[in-house]
Amino acid sequence: MTNTSASPLQRQPLPEDAVALADHERYARQRLDDPAWAYFSGGAADEITLRANRSAWDGLTLQPRVLRSLAGGHTRTTLLGRTLAHPILLAPVAYQRLAHPDGERASAYAAAALGAGMVLSTQASTPLEEVAQVFLDDPGRGPLWFQLYLQHDREFTRALVQRAEAAGYEALVLTVDAPASGARDRERRAGFRLPPGMTAVNLAGLAPPPPLPQAADGPRLLCQGLVEHTPTWDDVQWLQSHTRLPVLLKGVLHPQDALQAAALGVAGLIVSNHGGRTLDTAPASAHALARIADALQGALPLLVDGGIRRGTDVLKALALGASAVLLGRPAVYGLATAGATGVAHVLRLLIDELEIAMALTGCATPAQASRALLEPARAASPHSPIHIANAMDSHL
Ligand code: FNR
Ligand code: LAC
Repeated sequence: MTNTSASPLQRQPLPEDAVALADHERYARQRLDDPAWAYFSGGAADEITLRANRSAWDGLTLQPRVLRSLAGGHTRTTLLGRTLAHPILLAPVAYQRLAHPDGERASAYAAAALGAGMVLSTQASTPLEEVAQVFLDDPGRGPLWFQLYLQHDREFTRALVQRAEAAGYEALVLTVDAPASGARDRERRAGFRLPPGMTAVNLAGLAPPPPLPQAADGPRLLCQGLVEHTPTWDDVQWLQSHTRLPVLLKGVLHPQDALQAAALGVAGLIVSNHGGRTLDTAPASAHALARIADALQGALPLLVDGGIRRGTDVLKALALGASAVLLGRPAVYGLATAGATGVAHVLRLLIDELEIAMALTGCATPAQASRALLEPARAASPHSPIHIANAMDSHL
């Protein structure tokens, strides 16, 4: 285990006028320097998918229902055989110490206190054991998962998985949508570089990849050869055979990929476009969720992330077929605003908003959320995810 010089987490006051996730974003913008802001908030290329994630949730209409009994209502949800207090987890986000010196430990502390799940990034800036220590002690905690990027050195990857298992992580989230990083124009314009001392500490000791083939020796390889060792479906099976933990795939958008994953017996899917950071013009995650839910017909638990900023977005995700949602940037904005207190506040706001949305739609429990909540009052827009999902069925 790496050093445990874990200092106490800072206790910071919340800004008095922070009443919604957007307020934390505003404060984070003030507290982060321009390059760090570009790193956290930016997306790929023209950021079309980044914006589409938001507009897709906004474009869904929730139907209020009246006079239904809400007695005994709650937000509890079942996921991978365990009961969660509510269907919200923190998404894996790299290098959180860039946002706040307490970094991933603060996020884990806040998530545990609020009963949210925590997914730690392979590229975390805190040793995975320290994060587990903060998180696992809390009796009211949600699930603790480790997000895995398969490394070119499979032995190293195996050792990393064993470390995560030993530290108490309960599932592996294999991210499959980033064999190459997206074209991050905003980051490059801002001159973003990891500052000295900010590293992916859990990858310490990883040997550099084998030398890239020289372009002059033959045909030019894709991405200058950087993608020669990226994972394939065979590697999903390799991973499943080398861990006792359930394996979920993160970054699936196409129903055919979802079906292939189900055939391999993965434990669940996270429908995600990496917060619009990989392939620009990829579909909004809400639209992809509708299509995948239709294709899988409940064969696998589905989670979704990308653009979730309101409790109403969470309810819409449940209505489209997700069991839970992950929150990426807003949690980091809370972290930048007020450390662990900020992350906890972001989660509190989102949970409260979810409960309000459930009450106002007559939905007493997450299990009751169905597409009926979304049925449009007037003629449906032909662009709504439900209609797109139906139109696509014949093309699967
Ligand atoms: C990410 N995301 C991500 N995903 C992953 O699997 N491993 C990682 O290390 C990271 N790192 C990362 C860094 C930053 C700065 C961001 C913004 C995102 C993607 C993340 O898990 C999630 O899919 C999106 O952030 C969800 O979208 P929202 O909630 O940010 O809109
Ligand atoms: C990112 C990588 C770390 O999105 O997944 O920045």
